[in-house]
Amino acid sequence: MEREAPPGGDIYDPAFVKGVFDRCSERYIAFSYLCSLGFTERWRRQCVAAMPAPADERPSGYDLMAGTGEVWPHLLRRFPAIRAITAVDISTGMHRRAMERLHAHRAHRIEFIEDDVLASGLADDSADFVVSTFGLKTFNAAQHQRLATLIARVLKPGGSFSMIEASDPRGWWLRPLYLFHLKRVLPWVERLFLRGAEDFAMIGTYSTNFGDCSTFADMLRAAGLEVDHRRFFFGCATSVSGRKPRPD
Ligand SMILES: C[S@@+](CC[C@H](N)C(=O)[O-])C[C@H]1O[C@@H](n2cnc3c(N)ncnc32)[C@H](O)[C@@H]1O
Repeated sequence: MEREAPPGGDIYDPAFVKGVFDRCSERYIAFSYLCSLGFTERWRRQCVAAMPAPADERPSGYDLMAGTGEVWPHLLRRFPAIRAITAVDISTGMHRRAMERLHAHRAHRIEFIEDDVLASGLADDSADFVVSTFGLKTFNAAQHQRLATLIARVLKPGGSFSMIEASDPRGWWLRPLYLFHLKRVLPWVERLFLRGAEDFAMIGTYSTNFGDCSTFADMLRAAGLEVDHRRFFFGCATSVSGRKPRPD
């Protein structure tokens, strides 16, 4: 499949991002697991572990940029009484793969909304929790601002959240090796084994542009949330987690 050029050169255009993930969807899980040497699975688990326990005994909430639902097993293992997860993802390919092949046995607890999260109109105060794993990098600063406002709006007072993203490990002495892996080795693997249109290489570009979660943490604080910002494995991933305070 040919990769279309992004409209106006904007790699953060939602239609372009959707195309990238539609084309990656068949091989996304294997590629992300192998090329991160298993770290992505570990970071999903740590993201769920960092989320303050929701107040409701049978909580319901959102998995934003859910992909093929990779975080659901971790979420359901830590909170087995979860009543419902509403997954939001813009990619038809990721959605189809999530529901048909991977999580059919969990379908009664999972609803999938195929939409741009920033245009999805999720209701105010509707979530006991919001989780998102590796879904921040495909947004630019203005979109991060809108996402922070959206998360603060949809969480119930007292609701909790946790989000993690692959990040630039600034200051780590092995950073050049890490960037070489991301920018050179992964595109090479894709060209050699996946005969792809360099879509996985695009994911590398989004990751290196992203930096880390610190600016997003400030946006969430400005939106009224209590935020804890953490680093994992020398800063190769960073997370934000916390709560929406209850009114006094
Ligand atoms: C790197 S994948 C992460 C998938 C999964 N959460 C995981 O843990 O691997 C990023 C996902 O974000 C989705 N996405 C990107 N922009 C989006 C948007 N504006 N609205 C909803 N989903 C979006 C993509 O379709 C893709 O499935």
